[in-house]
Amino acid sequence: MTVVLLHAFPVNRHLFDGQVEYLTKVGMKVVAPDLAGFGESRVPQEASLALMAEQALAHVHEPAVFAGLSMGGYLLMEILRQAPHMVTGAIFMDTKASADTPEGRAQRLRIADDVLASGDTSGLAEAMLPNLLGATTMAQRPEVVAAVRRWIEQAPPQAVASAQRAMADRPDSFETLRNYEGPGVVLWGAEDVISPTSDQRQMLEAMPQAVAREIPAVGHLSAAEDPGAVNDVLLEVLSDWGA
Ligand code: MLT
Repeated sequence: MTVVLLHAFPVNRHLFDGQVEYLTKVGMKVVAPDLAGFGESRVPQEASLALMAEQALAHVHEPAVFAGLSMGGYLLMEILRQAPHMVTGAIFMDTKASADTPEGRAQRLRIADDVLASGDTSGLAEAMLPNLLGATTMAQRPEVVAAVRRWIEQAPPQAVASAQRAMADRPDSFETLRNYEGPGVVLWGAEDVISPTSDQRQMLEAMPQAVAREIPAVGHLSAAEDPGAVNDVLLEVLSDWGA
């Protein structure tokens, strides 16, 4: 069984280093691609989730369990629309199924313009860190703060702008979740301020078969903030699913 890990915005595949190492060690095949111009991937020519999902699917040659964190979760919802036959299990991490509010959308387009104009993502890193990471991580895990800052500073402005525009256009995905009948997980950090518990409850209502797991003392980037706790959940559900 293959497990595909789809990373968040505006970081890269290293978000899942702890999961790749652990799941590989316990004998699973793991694919954790850089997406949409982040890390070593190409910036898509067009800013759309559909194109980003196509790029992600190009890494996978057989049906697999997909886990998506935040933007990775939006992509997983898009994959469920484009290629549901490829998904044998869906793990949603720190994400949400709602579309943006008009204010949220406008803010994304503003960030896209600003980052292209400045040609630099260090200001974005400074602004986003306290929201991406939980209060506990900000206070007690300086190595995680430094790694996430580095990943954001390495993100190409083009990729940031393109992903923001793509996410601004994403549809409401509750119907997608209601139509999904396979096994699911909704996992989130207890200190996540970007996709808080209320978003997770709504996803669970749309997907009543899904298992709910709240990870204590972590924020939005749960997989990097406490890899061990996230690995425990992944191993538990993947074993249940016979992966
Ligand atoms: C992410 O972590 O991928 C972003 O916070 C998603 C978003 O901006 O909605």
